Amino acid sequence: MQQHRVHRKAYLDEQLFAEELTQIFHRTWIYVGHESEVARPGDYKTTVIGRQPVIVTRDGTGGIHVLMNRCTHRAATVCQAASGNSAFFRCEYHGWTFRNNGELVAPTFSAGYAPADFSAAGFALARAPRVDSYRGLIFASLAPGGESLREHLGRAAEYIDLTVDLAPAGTIRLGAGAHRYSYRGNWKLQSENGVDGYHPNFVHRAFFETSGLGAGLFGPGSTGRAGSLGRGHAVLDFRTMTAPMMRARLATDDGQRALERLAERLGDRERATEVLLANGTQGYNLLVFPNLQIIGCQLRVIHPRAVGLTEVDLYPYLHDGAGDEENTARLRTHEAFYGPSGGGGPDDIEMFDRVVQGLAVEGVEWLPLVRGLRREVVDGEARWGHITDEQPQRGFYHQWLQLMGASR
Ligand code: FES
Ligand code: FE
Repeated sequence: MQQHRVHRKAYLDEQLFAEELTQIFHRTWIYVGHESEVARPGDYKTTVIGRQPVIVTRDGTGGIHVLMNRCTHRAATVCQAASGNSAFFRCEYHGWTFRNNGELVAPTFSAGYAPADFSAAGFALARAPRVDSYRGLIFASLAPGGESLREHLGRAAEYIDLTVDLAPAGTIRLGAGAHRYSYRGNWKLQSENGVDGYHPNFVHRAFFETSGLGAGLFGPGSTGRAGSLGRGHAVLDFRTMTAPMMRARLATDDGQRALERLAERLGDRERATEVLLANGTQGYNLLVFPNLQIIGCQLRVIHPRAVGLTEVDLYPYLHDGAGDEENTARLRTHEAFYGPSGGGGPDDIEMFDRVVQGLAVEGVEWLPLVRGLRREVVDGEARWGHITDEQPQRGFYHQWLQLMGASR
């Protein structure tokens, strides 16, 4: 990346990919799950940090752990299920059993271990040295030191707050399952795309035409903004475009009742109005660097599997305290655009395929990210542009460079 352009090797080079894992994924805060996925003692889910498998668990005393899914005997994973509830994880290779806080109960056939050679206390599952959560979203860092999660989130936290505050009970939950897709392309294509307001009118034109949403939201006349929020986080903020519809909704009896309830819970009518007008992630797309997106009604997690292979998990989130009807409607909205036969998501993947094909061309080495460069508005750590500008991508690669070393 030089002069606001990215070299094609950033998407293709094995060595760079290995460095991304160590410099970015194994160093910064990575989203690993939501508290609602491990709500009860014994609940667990498996995921990865970079390519390292982990188990997120809740122990019998309510504590949350992020354990490395790697037997301390001879390295087999100790948990294969995506999620479940168990007080123990038993490695199938030689039968060692671990508590859900990571402690080794005892090796099997323990008479074969002399105390001089072995103590169970020294063979607990390894764990992520730092775990923290924000508004129910659990993050872990494999680096023992560094900035706190709250510092890392920076201004992205404002948007997470808007998302979560909208739920009548003040919390969101996962619990509607997830769907996963993969594509043969680099993980950054998806990170860039979720906050790319330039493509929707082209890639998703059919959806906008047939859904009645029209081309204005992401058109040249849109009043929406694209922003880099600092630390690689980015947002497409189209609240100005959706606010008239939300104001009309607020003016109804139902809208007024919702406002009263929220104002009472938050103790602040002005803030309640702001939250309702934003309408959660119906009003913005958020990228939390490097691989979490909160978009539409979903938490989207991007897993790099290889330099040219990416898996993406979409978890529709539900509002605690909302009726089934409202939450069901959220799911239908999610499916309409992002589902396997939805009007939007699959089209993006087709574009990733085409980019990967095009990247094979040698001699045309750079991808420019200069759109809107001359109309950036600086706002503290953030920079704002028109919703179709490439400000989010510039901010993303600025942070990428910081972490990868400025020599790139
Ligand atoms: Fe787990 Fe041997 S590898 S018990
Ligand atoms: Fe798209």
